[in-house]
Amino acid sequence: MIFNDLLSSVGNTPVIKIKNIAPANINLYVKAEYFNPGGSVKDRLALNIVNEAEKNGDLQPNQTVIEATSGNTGIGLAMVCASKGYPCIITMPDSASMERRKLMRFLGAKVLLTPGPEGATAAYDLAKKLADKNDWFYARQFENSANADIHEQTTAIEILDDFKNIGLDYWVSGYGTGGTFSGVSRVLRKHSPKTKLIISEPENAQLINSMKMQNRNSDGSPSESHESWNPHPIQGWTPDFIPLVLQESIDNDYFDENIPVSGDDGIYWSNQLASKEGIITGISGGSTFSVAMKIANQAPDASNILCMLADTAERYLSSPLFNDIDSEMNEDEKEILSSI
Ligand SMILES: Cc1ncc(COP(=O)(O)O)c(C=O)c1O
Repeated sequence: MIFNDLLSSVGNTPVIKIKNIAPANINLYVKAEYFNPGGSVKDRLALNIVNEAEKNGDLQPNQTVIEATSGNTGIGLAMVCASKGYPCIITMPDSASMERRKLMRFLGAKVLLTPGPEGATAAYDLAKKLADKNDWFYARQFENSANADIHEQTTAIEILDDFKNIGLDYWVSGYGTGGTFSGVSRVLRKHSPKTKLIISEPENAQLINSMKMQNRNSDGSPSESHESWNPHPIQGWTPDFIPLVLQESIDNDYFDENIPVSGDDGIYWSNQLASKEGIITGISGGSTFSVAMKIANQAPDASNILCMLADTAERYLSSPLFNDIDSEMNEDEKEILSSI
C-alpha cells in the first residue's frame, strides 16, 4: 500500500479478535489505534484540528500551533506539524512519561512542563496564556468540535462497517477529552441502536459518577464539593475537569453503563494482552480491556464486544506498566545460560 503523504495513513485501524484470554462463549475484539502513524488514537483529532483550522483561516502558514496535552495529542500534533511545516509547542503535566516528552521533541516540538499534581488544568491555563500573548493557534482539544467530529466521520464509520454483518452488542471506551466517546456514540446510537455503549473512568477519579451523585441532592442544589478527582496512573484518561467535548455524551445519556477501573487492573490486563495475545497496548488499553472482560464475563453467549485500545505500550517503558519487566537477565534466563 503506497501513501504519498504520511497523514493519509491516519485511521482505518484494524479490529483484532482476542484468541486466548477471552471467555470461550464470547467474541471479544479490540480496535488497535496504535496502528496510527503516531502510535495512538489522537492522530485522528490532531490531523482534523489542523485541517479544519487551515480551512477556516484560523491557522496561517508558519503560525505556531500550541496545545495542552498529557502526551498522545502532543505526539500526534507534533507529527502533523512536522509533516505540514508548522512550529509546535506542547504544555504537559510533568507526570506524563519521559517517552512522550522525548518523542515530541524528536518530532521537532518544544515541550513546556507543568506540575503533575496540578493536573491538566495547569497545562491548559499555560497554553491559553501563551496562545493569547503570542497569537499562536491554540488547538483546544477539550473544546474543539473538530475532535468528536473526526470520530463521527472516521472511527465510527470504520466500526459500523467492520460489524455490519455480525452486529455489535457492546462498545467499550475510556475518555480523555471525550472525543472518541462522543463522536462514535453519535453514530452508534443512530445506526446501531442495539449496541450498548460502555464508558470507563479511573476508580480514584470518577468525575462522571460524582456528577451523578451531585445531581441527586433533594433540593436540586449541587452537593458539598467532594474531591472526586485524584492523580491516577491511567495516562490519557480523565482530566481534573469535565471537558466540553465529553459533556455531549453526558447531556445525551450516550453511555448505558459507566464502569470504574483501577490503574492496577489496567496494568495487569495490559501485561496479559502482551504476554498472552501479543498485543502491545498502554495502561489505558489494559484498563479498557479490563472493563471489556467484566462485560464479557456477564454477557449472553455469542455476544460481540469491541474494546478501544488507544495507544502502544512502548510509550510507557519508564512507567509502572514495566515495573515487573526486567532489563537485566533474571534468574530463569541466567539458568538457561549456565546450562550450556
Ligand atoms: C492514552 C489515551 N489517549 C486517548 C484516549 C481517548 O481520548 P479522547 O477521549 O480524548 O478521545 C484514551 C481513552 O481511552 C486514552 O487512554
